Amino acid sequence: MSSERGQFSSRFGFISAATGSAVGLGNIWGFPTQTASHGGGAFVLVYLILAFLLAYPALMAELIIGRHTRHNMVGALPQLTQRPALQVIGRATGLYGVLIASLILSFYAIVAAWLMAQVPAAVANIGGQQPAASWFTQSSLLRDSLFCVLFLALTAAIVARGVKDGIERWSSRLMPALLLLILGLTAVVLTLPGAMEGLRLYLVPDFSLIAHPSLLTSAMGQAFFSLSLGVGTMLVYGSYMSKTDNLPLTGAYVALIDSGIAFLAGLLIIPAMFVAHQQGIEIYSADNTLIAGPDLILKTLPTLFNSLGLSGALIGLVFFLLLSIAALTSSISMLEVPVTYALEQFTISRSRATWLIASGIFAISLLILFNFDELFGSVINITTKYSQPLLGAMLCLFAGWALHRDKLLSEISAGYSAAEQGLFWKIWPSYIRFVCPVLVIIIFVQNVRT
Ligand code: PHE
Repeated sequence: MSSERGQFSSRFGFISAATGSAVGLGNIWGFPTQTASHGGGAFVLVYLILAFLLAYPALMAELIIGRHTRHNMVGALPQLTQRPALQVIGRATGLYGVLIASLILSFYAIVAAWLMAQVPAAVANIGGQQPAASWFTQSSLLRDSLFCVLFLALTAAIVARGVKDGIERWSSRLMPALLLLILGLTAVVLTLPGAMEGLRLYLVPDFSLIAHPSLLTSAMGQAFFSLSLGVGTMLVYGSYMSKTDNLPLTGAYVALIDSGIAFLAGLLIIPAMFVAHQQGIEIYSADNTLIAGPDLILKTLPTLFNSLGLSGALIGLVFFLLLSIAALTSSISMLEVPVTYALEQFTISRSRATWLIASGIFAISLLILFNFDELFGSVINITTKYSQPLLGAMLCLFAGWALHRDKLLSEISAGYSAAEQGLFWKIWPSYIRFVCPVLVIIIFVQNVRT
């Protein structure tokens, strides 16, 4: 074993890092597009309810396991029990989580590469360099591999600096910048013609859609992905938290900020789609549903920005910068999962472990890029649709059943002395034992069947 464990220096530092992890492409891209394809306001309402009734308790399970054991995903779970069979299951679950975190990063880096390439494209556009702009805009193996390596190198450079000087420092800088950019951009987009139509779709729920089965499963899956649950990210960040932090409150801030930014991103993206519609840009696909997926962000919105002249190009520049920042503060948390495992398992320096693992992940990204049609969609499905909910359920079961009630209470009481009298302690332990795993298993079964 090597190296002493890092620790966040303050609650603000933890909240920046954890919300940095949570707020990513899942919020700024996934949430608005899912909302658009699931009846607008109806999805928003169900999502918000599930984020607090289901994802927040699961987030607490991860944070508590992490802070209690002060270990990585693989080392943590076996420590919660004396039973050898459960220890083996815990270790296997941990290893699976590390693998899934690494695979998520391998496809996330590709999507981030597409988005990052739009930043120099916008600069070239503003400078009147059309050939350069179109090279950056159009996907090619060379462009995608170059930006993928650049994105992973930025991620590794931050992670290699450690918890306080790398992750905490950069998240604390980038998260406020992200918030300002979203607020500014939303204010601008909402003044453009057509925006109000989008706003109506976004905010007025169509209650006839609330009972639709795919709405519920999509909203739950989205809540798990968005809070970075299941793969040990929040567990590892929890292991760097100070014992004096009030866990239920700090976790609630993270869930609130994450949902708040997803909500804000919807206020930006959906009205922007309707502004595009006003400009004659197609926003419905062949089956009459709103365009979602890569085409929305990489075709519809850039076409809109271009049609607005110089100010549009500037809006585009800020928009893609914002997406790149959001992706970066999430990718560092993904890379931290295998890196902490390597640090606590082998004798290796942080910087060496980080660069080695990042290179391995780049190799997987290249494999995906070169076999895009066969691999890209499958890796996303296997990791986010199947593995994240299943792993989330396992972590809830471990926190609820393997971690002794007294230890749970003393962990929560460490930074919150009145814990025993609080509502959280009255509800949460049985919630995590029964309600969360059962609901997650229902999503899992539904996902497999559909
Ligand atoms: N929460 C991140 C997002 O919304 C994605 C993520 C998943 C991050 C799993 C870490 C671990 O984009």
